[in-house]
Parts: sequence; structure tokens; C-alpha cells
Amino acid sequence: MIRILDGERPAFVLDTANTTYAFMITPSGHPEHIYYGRKIELESVEELEALRQKREFEPGNAIVYSEEHPALALEDTCLEFSALGHGDLREPFLEIARSDGSRTTDLLYKSHALSDSAPPEGDLPASHTCGEFLSVDYEEEGLTLELRYRVFPDCDVITRSAVLTNTGDTIELERLLSMQLDLPSSGYSISSFHGAWAREMQRVTTPLFAGRFVVESRAGCSSNRANPFIMLHEPNATETAGEVYGFNLIYSGNHYESAEVNAYGKTRVVTGINPTGFRFRLENGERFEAPEAVMTYSPLGFTGQSVNMHRFVREHIIRPEWKDKERPILLNSWEAFYFNITERSLVSLAKAGRDLGIELFVMDDGWFGERNNDSCSLGDWDVNPKKLPGGLPRLGSKITALGLQFGIWVEPEMVNVKSRLYEQHPDWAMAIPGRLHSEGRHQRILDFANPAVTDYITEKMTEVFSSADISYVKWDMNRVFSDVFSPYLPAERQGEVAHRYMIGLYKVMRTLSERFPDILFEGCASGGNRFDLGILRYFPQIWGSDNTDALSRTAIEEGYSYGYPLSSVGSHVAASPNHQTLRSTPLETRYNVAAFGALGYELNVRDMTALQRLSTRSQITLYKAWREVFQTGQFFRGRSGNVHEWTCVTEDKSRAVGMLMRELSVPNRQSERYFASGLDPDRTYRFYNVSGRVNVKLFGSLINTMSPLHIRQDSFMHGIVARMVKIGEEKEDYCVKGSVLMRAGVALAPDFSGTGFNDKVRVFPDFASRMYYMVAVD
Ligand code: DGJ
Repeated sequence: MIRILDGERPAFVLDTANTTYAFMITPSGHPEHIYYGRKIELESVEELEALRQKREFEPGNAIVYSEEHPALALEDTCLEFSALGHGDLREPFLEIARSDGSRTTDLLYKSHALSDSAPPEGDLPASHTCGEFLSVDYEEEGLTLELRYRVFPDCDVITRSAVLTNTGDTIELERLLSMQLDLPSSGYSISSFHGAWAREMQRVTTPLFAGRFVVESRAGCSSNRANPFIMLHEPNATETAGEVYGFNLIYSGNHYESAEVNAYGKTRVVTGINPTGFRFRLENGERFEAPEAVMTYSPLGFTGQSVNMHRFVREHIIRPEWKDKERPILLNSWEAFYFNITERSLVSLAKAGRDLGIELFVMDDGWFGERNNDSCSLGDWDVNPKKLPGGLPRLGSKITALGLQFGIWVEPEMVNVKSRLYEQHPDWAMAIPGRLHSEGRHQRILDFANPAVTDYITEKMTEVFSSADISYVKWDMNRVFSDVFSPYLPAERQGEVAHRYMIGLYKVMRTLSERFPDILFEGCASGGNRFDLGILRYFPQIWGSDNTDALSRTAIEEGYSYGYPLSSVGSHVAASPNHQTLRSTPLETRYNVAAFGALGYELNVRDMTALQRLSTRSQITLYKAWREVFQTGQFFRGRSGNVHEWTCVTEDKSRAVGMLMRELSVPNRQSERYFASGLDPDRTYRFYNVSGRVNVKLFGSLINTMSPLHIRQDSFMHGIVARMVKIGEEKEDYCVKGSVLMRAGVALAPDFSGTGFNDKVRVFPDFASRMYYMVAVD
């Protein structure tokens, strides 16, 4: 709820279910930030005055805003936005250069408006189904700045954005950020998520003492180097306790977040488009809209924060028609065949997948042009008749005849120099004429700042997507930007290219997702090189990482889970040894980790052993029975370290599924507990596992302590014995209160520890895991 309190000057109070955000206009006309945190009752301007910083004399050596306000030093004031020039020496929110060379701006309060709904989405993706909307205008001669606030009470989220309108002479906009939050104190830490290809979303926590900590992308996309999602928190915050602020940006391009502690012990957090490389010309009457930034606050630790963010993404970012739609279990051809595909091999893989319970078959890269490796053909979106003689329609109907849905891979934003498209339109690719162009994966980026290019791609993709019975599209993007230059734009607008690219991309994504509302689009950028809320606004899921190793994935998925619901993270069961790490992990763990994301398979399932096929079939059957819990339940992180503990709980807390995964086994430590999260403490739950079969090969040569005949490890005989000997895994089955499961934890069957073995012992070597099911029985 948004309240405007009457007084000499307006004061604004924005309430969500559990938080309050307040600011008021100072006598000088600046918006002074008053409070953001746990919900408080603020009924009158007097109460806000009690919270407001008191001022009598200016701080020494500081700039005083004006003689009329002799105690006002902007540098020592919490502000809703800040500009250059009048003494605030911190990170500015806005920077412009005027035609006379001056850079100072002095935007002061003009008016405000409150409404029941936000303006419709413009060029950029925005949150939907917002409750109330507040806009506050600030003005100076020739400029108007509108600060926008949307309130989402159901998930304790407030979003902010800004629109700058030029009503005077031409200006160069050098930065317009989306959100600035000034907190009156310091002593926080910042957690940000960094990485690289195959190593996305590694959480890094940095204490903020003084100066500025920057998280940013200059990659042209939101990037795997640093995700736009960050958290500011008490240094000792835990999963369940402590104050945590979460921030994100609904944008997929170059982003910038910084947290700064200034000379007066105040903390400023900003987020928005990265000013580096950005310069946008605004002629008289033109406006620039900054992307929407998302903020949440929880006093209940990191989990409290992520519960809010997950709900926000599900309810207000994901396209409404996909929000509650079941995600099919897919089988992707990439790690099975890479580029080496034919209609025959694809159909045979699909058939083997269908027999396991797979619902959607996806043909990945390699189906078009002369695409036998990654050096050519991007841009030529016509089927390779040698690989697919009947084209997409015949392959599609063969797949659907198996009872499966059919999906394809595309990479529409790119072109190889070795392609017909490049031959015909070399000026459609980004490159600086006459200069060396550095490439990534042998490819160039199409100039999506040029409407002729985006129109062509939109129509070409429309042709491809309507040419067969296609239910799913994996939309890839496999390089970062270099030599940024649009052959279409004039010299004075080259600073606009990276942002105009995003506007072009969003237009294509929006048009195609509207034209094909039933196609499930999955974003991808060499895995998670563009995992953000801008993509999720149109594509309900994103391939989280090219790293399919279950252990690496545990850390990566845990990283994503701080800011994004795991149902939005594409996650696949792959071969072992893994293709990126060469690590061997148990099938059970590969499945368990993948099941918490949008589940898929990416391996040659035709090569599975009989036992693997059996396990996979029962895992998929069980997944289907529990899919609703995984895909719509609330995700909770428990312990994280050598042991990872995850729980997913339905909204009504009647069903939950948990996973306990251990990285390395600990010798002679037999007892382990599983602690659930998010249950109703007062309800009784049946807690159980579904035990499979122990593969006696896991015991290696120890088999000889039981066998009457000597069996050489990994011999043919070893294989036969493994197939014949059927030892069940340990069984857990208890009925206990939610409070017991969450606070005391269930003491699990003892670990195998080298001193004996029977079917009550948990065989739990390195990288082992178990899934536990909880059903309310009252
Ligand atoms: C990169 C993606 O992340 C992979 O999953 C795969 O689709 C390849 N591109 C195909 O070239």
C-alpha cells in the first residue's frame, strides 16, 4: 500500500506485507530517503520527522547546497537519487553533459501521482500485475526526471525505475541508473555472484568498510562473470536470521551495481545500466527509460530474502501463461551427439528416451546449413538436407508420433562469416569498418540496433517455428561483445549500441513469444552467460550452465537459488564421467540435483546399462508424481558446505521433498541427520525415502570378503555378480511433527564405515545423495 502523508511537503510511505519504505521531500526540494526495512507504523509527517536526520550546521569541509539551506550538505544526506555538481561526492544516479560542456544537474521536486496500476511495458521488459504505482517528478530547466515505484505486497518487493525527458537543448546522457538506496549506517557485507563459463553463480561475500565495491558486466550481456543479483546484509546473517536486502535488475545487458560507504558512515547501493561505454543522445522532447530494479528486504536471513525473490519472479516476471504450467521432462541431443546428428540417430535417441518416460525431445545444434562444427552457418536457418532429408516437418512428426513433444535449438543473434547471410549482408554484423574484429566461437553478433536485422530475424524465426510441430525452443547466444559498433547508427550514436541491441532483442523475444504463446522458450548463453530477469520475462526458463557435473551443479544451483526460483533453471542429468570435469558421480545424485531445477536429460540414453535404465525409469515415474512440489513448491537451502541440504515445500505445506548431498565421505563418522525447512511445525509428516538397489560394484575388491570365488574387480564376472545380487538400500520411514523434522532433524541410517554392511546401512561414498519425501498425515 502506498500512502502520501499530508504536510508542508509531501512524504511517501510504501508498505508491503512485512516491510516499509519511506521518503519525504526536504525544504530544498530534494527527496530524502527516510527508512527501508522491517514494517513500522508511520501515520503522520511528524513520525517521519522523528526519523529524519537533524541538521543545524554544515559538516566541516563539505559543500553546502545553498545559502537558503545552510545546513544541507547533500554528501551527508540519504537521497532517493543523486546527481553531479552540488556537493554529493558519492556514486551519482544521473550524469549528463550539456551542449555548453557543463555537467551539474539540480532536479527538484515538482509533482507526484499515484495510481492503481503501472504504465504498460515499453521497450524494456517490466514486472507485470503490479498493485500500486507511484511516480514522482523532479524538474529543472530543460529536464524532467520521473522516479517510478511499484509495490508488490504479496512478496515484500518494491521496484524502482527512472525516466529522463529532455525539454531543452540536446544533451548527452552518460548514466541513468535504476535504483539508489541510501542507508543511514554502515557495517554491512555484500554478497555477489561471480564466475565464468561452466562455473556460474559462485557466491562471494565482501565486508564493506569504506570506499566502493563494484559488481558489473561489460560483456554486452548480463554475463557469467557477475550476475546482476546482489544482497546487502548484516555480516553475521545466516540462512534463517539477520537483515538481508536483495536487489536485481530486469535487464540482460551491461549492468552495474555498487555499494559504497562514504565519509559520513552512510551506505549507498545503486543498480542500473553500466555507464562504461554508454552515452545516449537526447534531443529536445526525447526521453530515456532506465530498466526496472527490484528490491526486497527480510529480517529472516538469506532464505527469507530468497522466498520473496522467488515469489516475485514466479508471480510478476514469468509470463502469466507459463507461471503454473507443468514443465516437461526433456531429453537434449547435445552431449549425446554434439554436431553429429542425423534423422535416424535423433529418432532412435528419442525412442530410447520415450521408453524411460521422457516427454519432450530436443534437437540441439547442428541441424542447419553446413553446421558440422562451430566455425560456420550461423545465420543460415535452413535445414541441412543430408542430415534431415525430410526437413523439420518429417523429423517433428516422427518425434510426435512417438508420443513426445518436439523442440529445436537456435542461435538467432549470431552470424558466422562463413555463411550465406554474412555474404549477403556483411553490414548486418557488428564490426568497426576497416579495423580488426575479434571473434568468440568464430562468430559475430548481428546488429540488433538495426530494425532491418531484427525484422528479418523475427520473420525467419517465425518461418522456422511454424514449419513443424515445435513445442520448445532453446535460444542460445554464445559469445560476449567486442568491438561494439553498429554500421547502422551514426558516429554520434555509437554510445547507444549496446542498449539499443537490448531493445532490439527484447522486441524480437516479445514478438515471438506472443506469436507462439505455447512454445516453451528456454534461454541459454553458453549456459548461464545471460541469466537474468529480462530474459525470464519472456522465456520461462534458462539453461543454468554448460557444466552438467552434479557436484559443480550443486554449487551453481545453490548460487542461483538466492535470487531465482530453481524451476527457472534448466538442469540436466548427464553422462558420467562428466564431459566438463571428467568426474564420476552416482546416477542418483545426478538425478537428485537436476530434479530441483527444470529437469532434463542430456546423454546418450541408448548406452545406459539395464540397471541405469531401471533406475532412471523409476526416478522419472517418481518425479512425475512429485513434479508439482519441485516446480511450484518453495525452495529452502539448509546446510551448505561438505553437506548440502535442500527442501522444496508446497504452498499449503502438505508435501515436501528434500535432498541431502555430501561432497566427500568422512571416514568413521556414521551418523548423519537430515533437517527439513519450511514445514508446518505443528503438523505430523510421514518422512520416508524410496530405496533403490545397492550396486555391489561400489564395494570394489571388497566383494571378495563375501564371495566364495575370487572375483577380479571390473571383470566380466564382477559385472554379472553386480547384475544378479540384489541388495536393497536402507529404508527410512517415520511419522514425526514438522517441528522435529526442522529443529531436531531425523537421525538417518548409519553410514557404511568399513566395519560391516547390511541392508540397514547407508552406502554413501563421495558425491552420494538421497531424496526424502514428506507428506502431512493429519
Ligand atoms: C552452448 C550451449 O550452452 C550448449 O548447451 C549447446 O547448445 C551448444 N551451445 C551448442 O552449440
